[in-house]
Amino acid sequence: MSSINITEKRSDVQDQYIELLKDLLYMRAGNKQPYGYVRTYGCQQNVSDSEKIKGMLEEMGCIITEEPEKADIIIFNTCAVREHAEDRVFGNVGALKALKREKPSLLIGLCGCMMEQEHIADRIYKSFPYVGLVFGTHVIHKFPELVYNAVTSGKRLVERGNDDGKIYEGLPVHRDGSFKGWLPVMYGCDNFCSYCIVPYVRGRERSRRPSAIIGEAEAMVKAGYKEITLLGQNVNSYGKGLDEKTDFAALLNDVANIDGDFWVRFMTSHPKDASEKLIDVIAENDKICNHLHLPFQCGSNRVLDKMNRRYTREKYLEIVNYAKRKIPDLSLTSDVIVGFPGETYEEFQETLDLIREVKFTSLFTFIYSPRVGTPAAKLDDPYTHEEKAKRMAELLKLQEGIAAERCAGMVGKTYRVLVEEQAREGVLNARTQNNIVVELNAPTELIGTFQYAEITEARNWILRGKIV
Ligand code: SAH
Ligand code: SF4
Ligand code: F3S
Repeated sequence: MSSINITEKRSDVQDQYIELLKDLLYMRAGNKQPYGYVRTYGCQQNVSDSEKIKGMLEEMGCIITEEPEKADIIIFNTCAVREHAEDRVFGNVGALKALKREKPSLLIGLCGCMMEQEHIADRIYKSFPYVGLVFGTHVIHKFPELVYNAVTSGKRLVERGNDDGKIYEGLPVHRDGSFKGWLPVMYGCDNFCSYCIVPYVRGRERSRRPSAIIGEAEAMVKAGYKEITLLGQNVNSYGKGLDEKTDFAALLNDVANIDGDFWVRFMTSHPKDASEKLIDVIAENDKICNHLHLPFQCGSNRVLDKMNRRYTREKYLEIVNYAKRKIPDLSLTSDVIVGFPGETYEEFQETLDLIREVKFTSLFTFIYSPRVGTPAAKLDDPYTHEEKAKRMAELLKLQEGIAAERCAGMVGKTYRVLVEEQAREGVLNARTQNNIVVELNAPTELIGTFQYAEITEARNWILRGKIV
């Protein structure tokens, strides 16, 4: 494996574009401070990228707004993982036409995973003439240059880099949350699950240096962050290609050992690489949340093989059972795909059996969506969408029962929770370490603090509690 090319800081060239843009964007906005709006689709990787784009917009002098009507620059950061995600983008970009008509100086840019697919980027370019800038996931570090060229050239711009195994450190981050934050540890994916577009749009796996990650985590803790989530498509292969020998379990342990009162989470783990060492680190360290998101996708070995997941149902259960033994309070969550091409009803039943056996806290469930360019998209698929939707309903019903049972079992116990947000007037949502939401009657001043909550009531999978 070739080593990873990591820059220490953002290039001076981009700094120069930022300087130029400060005046330029101010003038274009009618001699006032410009507004920037970024809308994010898809996974936390995109959320994290958007935080960098917002960071750069701020450096250009923009105020970050949640209202697209106010904006002078609008960026949509898109997701390609399923057709539904793409359809939403097409619909929402269509709706921007009116804004552009009202404010001709508005710059509309599209980036993210959809833009890495040439046929999609072409369709966008042709369908939406008011989109001035299209750029892919590999050129985010050049965002200042791209904005500058788009506004000064008067031409529409498309930029997509190739995946050159590089990591660009030193980009500014405008974090959306003030006490919960994302921290990418690696980019890309090498797994090529046969249904998945991510390896094609995100490029090869590459890990950040431990020192950069620890430095960022320390800064977050110092700034008052109470929860840090380490991010990667497959965090368990962290460290591959780095000069220094390390792995994810070691990194996780080092982050958790930073001084301060905070929690660490991570996602996503691939079952083929989930090690006992990782489970041991979670078990031994109080600051690492007792929660493991471990997508199994399907309970049938034949289908798992067709998915190119490279583990069996038995191997999956082995690591899950080890984790349950080591971490008694462990909460397991997972992703499941229903209706992979050719999956029979009997094979689907194996998925249900696995769900019954593991008893997940919650599941992210998806009906298979063919993605152009992936091997699975070429497979014959005799089952209709209607049949798949029926199976999905069966799965959801099963999971609702399991979740309700788990929640009922928590009543009367007391948990440490992080108070997160207002759910409605007088009611706040808090989250336990094992990732279960508890509703509390409490004042909004407690948002962003740790509290102890006694669970007083479980209504299906919603818990009510009181602060003790
Ligand atoms: N890297 C993570 C997941 C990334 S995508 C992992 O491997 O766990 C998030 C989830 O989307 C996947 O776990 C999978 O369940 C789902 N997914 C990906 N491609 C899909 C497709 N073509 N159709 C339906 N679901 C898909
Ligand atoms: Fe997609 Fe598989 Fe990579 Fe996850 S591990 S991003 S499902 S290819
Ligand atoms: Fe979507 Fe890209 Fe994430 S395809 S799921 S935003 S890596």
